[in-house]
Amino acid sequence: MKKYVIVGCGRLGTAFARYLVGAGYRPAGFASRSISSAKRAAAASGSNVPVSVLPWEVTAKADIVIITTPDGAIRDTAGKIAEYNGVVKDTVVLHCSGAHSSTELEELKKCGATIGTLHPLQSFAAEDIGENPFAGIMTAVEGEPEAVKTAWRLAEKLGASPFEIQTDKKMLYHASAVAASNYLVTLMNLALQLIIASGVPASKGFAVLKPLVRGTLSNIERSGIPGALTGPIARGDVETVRDHVSQIGQKAPTRLELYKVLGKQTIEVAEAKGDLSAEAAEKLKKLLSE
Ligand SMILES: NC(=O)c1ccc[n+]([C@@H]2O[C@H](COP(=O)([O-])OP(=O)(O)OC[C@H]3O[C@@H](n4cnc5c(N)ncnc54)[C@H](OP(=O)(O)O)[C@@H]3O)[C@@H](O)[C@H]2O)c1
Repeated sequence: MKKYVIVGCGRLGTAFARYLVGAGYRPAGFASRSISSAKRAAAASGSNVPVSVLPWEVTAKADIVIITTPDGAIRDTAGKIAEYNGVVKDTVVLHCSGAHSSTELEELKKCGATIGTLHPLQSFAAEDIGENPFAGIMTAVEGEPEAVKTAWRLAEKLGASPFEIQTDKKMLYHASAVAASNYLVTLMNLALQLIIASGVPASKGFAVLKPLVRGTLSNIERSGIPGALTGPIARGDVETVRDHVSQIGQKAPTRLELYKVLGKQTIEVAEAKGDLSAEAAEKLKKLLSE
């Protein structure tokens, strides 16, 4: 049974502590900035292994070290562990940032460690004590081959679905996650502001749009992109788009720029779908660039 140590016992570190034992891994220690967080994680794992505020005091006993400090502290934490020879040869060290790659852990290679990352695409809360938050989620793994193998197995044992990302493309993967999650919120904000401007009460706005959004997601799942695209741009209905631009310009002018930018990107999707005539595409591009 592989032994793990968690460094940085916050939301994700404590979730690992809570669920790794059931996944077939044995804790060897917990380290955090405050001893109380390390003790809380040890308790969550159901063990009384050593705890410390100095990671290198516990990391040498691990086969797998998982660094779950905030992103900004990963490089420094790895550097300190390396400085104190805190890991033995062939230890796999992983961090869990979505944005940063395994290069943050470079210093640890001097000790013979193998480095990688494991990023669970999930939002972990402080009191995740209900259902296993790793079950069924996608998890990106990246790094040196042995670290990728270890991270992959660990994700699977937790019930997650791993997939591999190239080290130099990790930031693009993170940008994609931001677009899919954060920008979807911004897109819904645009749609809500426009439906409120149309006279629908704010309290009903989301309920009105929700079935449409759900339907669109299922269409993307079923038909893919560009197949799922419908609406005036896909049909080449220039006059309707012209009226949208005019009305938004008058009633919700601060939303017009985003509407136009998205419209221009939508022309590309419509062209890929193949139904849009070259003439309508040109007129739409001109209209949305004015
Ligand atoms: N939460 C999520 O939803 C989520 C999802 C995917 C990936 N991640 C990634 O997981 C990592 C941790 O995120 P989190 O949300 O769990 O953060 P968090 O709740 O803020 O926990 C971070 C923990 O690290 C400890 N810490 C801070 N600086 C430290 C240092 N220099 N040395 C040792 N421990 C230190 C903190 O200490 P004390 O409590 O001891 O003061 C805290 O408990 C990040 O890389 C994040 O990007 C998080």
